[in-house]
Amino acid sequence: MSGHGTPEPMTAHRSGPLKGVAEIPGDKSISHRALIFGAMAVGETKITGLLEGQDVLDTAKAMRAFGADVIQHGPGAWSVHGVGVGGFREPEDVIDCGNSGTGVRLIMGTMATSPISATFTGDASLRKRPMGRVTDPLALFGAQSYGRKGGRLPLTLVGAANPVPVQYTTPMPSAQVKSAVLLAALNAPGETVVTEREATRDHSERMLAGFGAKLHVERTNAGNVITLQGQPELRPQVVAVPRDPSSAAFPVCAAVIVEGSDILVPGVSQNTTRNGLYPTLVEMGADITFENPREEGGEPVADLRVRASSLKGIEVPPERAPSMIDEYPVLSVVAAFAEGKTVMRGVKELRVKESDRIDAMARGLEACGVTIEEDEDTLIVHGLGGKVPGGATVATHIDHRIAMSFLVLGLASQKPVTVDDGSPIATSFPIFGKLMADLGADIR
Ligand code: S3P
Repeated sequence: MSGHGTPEPMTAHRSGPLKGVAEIPGDKSISHRALIFGAMAVGETKITGLLEGQDVLDTAKAMRAFGADVIQHGPGAWSVHGVGVGGFREPEDVIDCGNSGTGVRLIMGTMATSPISATFTGDASLRKRPMGRVTDPLALFGAQSYGRKGGRLPLTLVGAANPVPVQYTTPMPSAQVKSAVLLAALNAPGETVVTEREATRDHSERMLAGFGAKLHVERTNAGNVITLQGQPELRPQVVAVPRDPSSAAFPVCAAVIVEGSDILVPGVSQNTTRNGLYPTLVEMGADITFENPREEGGEPVADLRVRASSLKGIEVPPERAPSMIDEYPVLSVVAAFAEGKTVMRGVKELRVKESDRIDAMARGLEACGVTIEEDEDTLIVHGLGGKVPGGATVATHIDHRIAMSFLVLGLASQKPVTVDDGSPIATSFPIFGKLMADLGADIR
């Protein structure tokens, strides 16, 4: 869904204690992968708990355009009849990935080693984001790309007719880049080796192994070395998508800062490549207990009991960044309510997300009366010990996480906070408004 509809301003008002159970929808990263990997398997993959956010719906549509049969059977229940590795057909029209960097980058990887061409586009946010980080390694397989300046969308990718395997070290911590290379490697003969110096979310490795790819991960001093043997036949799977820890972050952080709150958030991922926010909140003094640890949908999960807490600022270890990269916006909101400053270093990847998230958070927090410091790779928030003025309208730059972060802020600030456009929330967390209202949040 490209372009962007009429802006929908939303306002959060100071709220009474949040209470109840927050049932978080399916994980966005795993939902994209379930559809794409299902499309590359031979036979029918069955999915439950699929996130029906716009980003994932755009990926479902793209998989149909490449020839897979993707059917919705009921809420969250989908099936994908795959075409096999290398079986993608050439789409008849432009592939529109809407707001989704994960969607477009993973799909480009998947088609890069087939003898077909496709043109990709997206909304105004996605068209600003760098694609060279994916098209550079895909060129090593033999794919060619023709994009706008800096490799931006719209971009045409011409897949390699005779792909060769590659050896590649990702230049930035990015699961999207790693995954695009692994997906391209599926249809290249021989062995592709991807090295990442810092561990990023490992859903592709776990799920590809489940689908029958021949993949081996070695943890070395130089980082994770992933070796994939090309041209396997992928077996269809039954995928139960676990809940999204990045969506859970919003009610969890709201409960931490709204006085008197006490909520339960069941089934939050404890996958260490994803859950960096939670130890960080605990270090800040958040009252969170991790109950009933178990496995769900192949991921370690726990039920989180979260109570309002008094917080102190901390220095977030930079090496933790890849495991909580999507959570810095809402963490910086929590930091505004803490006593003392919270220092977030090593976060320059935030500048190339759905918006420049360092800039968006810095400007919004300042407008809400919070002092910040920033440089290219750092955000420092000077906490006000609970008394955050609010009372501003914040620009969200077509970024769902910026919108949700400032709505969370407005639940505990002295004056209401308005976001100029809440519509992008539907890309990742379509039931955010209802879920928060059910907990007692006053968001209009
Ligand atoms: C994602 C990887 C991360 C993350 C994004 C989802 C994924 O991006 O920010 O929301 O599903 O692989 P990068 O790969 O750019 O770090």
